[in-house]
Amino acid sequence: PKIIAVDRDGTEKTIDAENGLSLMLNLRDKGDLDIAAICGGMCSCATCHVYVDEAWRDKTGERSIDEFELVEFSAHYQENSRLSCQIEMTDELDGIKVTLAPEE
Ligand code: FES
Repeated sequence: PKIIAVDRDGTEKTIDAENGLSLMLNLRDKGDLDIAAICGGMCSCATCHVYVDEAWRDKTGERSIDEFELVEFSAHYQENSRLSCQIEMTDELDGIKVTLAPEE
């Protein structure tokens, strides 16, 4: 499956993603995007913050309470804010578009 990712400088990249890995790992390791992921995907650092394109919000499901509590404290919080380590890549998300949130 593919991920369309908009980097912080506005550049759009298409990434050949791997199913079963989180969006964060795909963006960082397959797409070489600048995601710190300090906590390693444990839903506690919020450095993997992305905005999910409106068309894809339903398919990515709801944020967990832990995820919401973390992300809502971001200075760059938006309705479509997600922690990319909390979304697992599947074929259903083929073509998903996300934009990296600004660094805190
Ligand atoms: Fe730390 Fe996602 S990598 S919250």
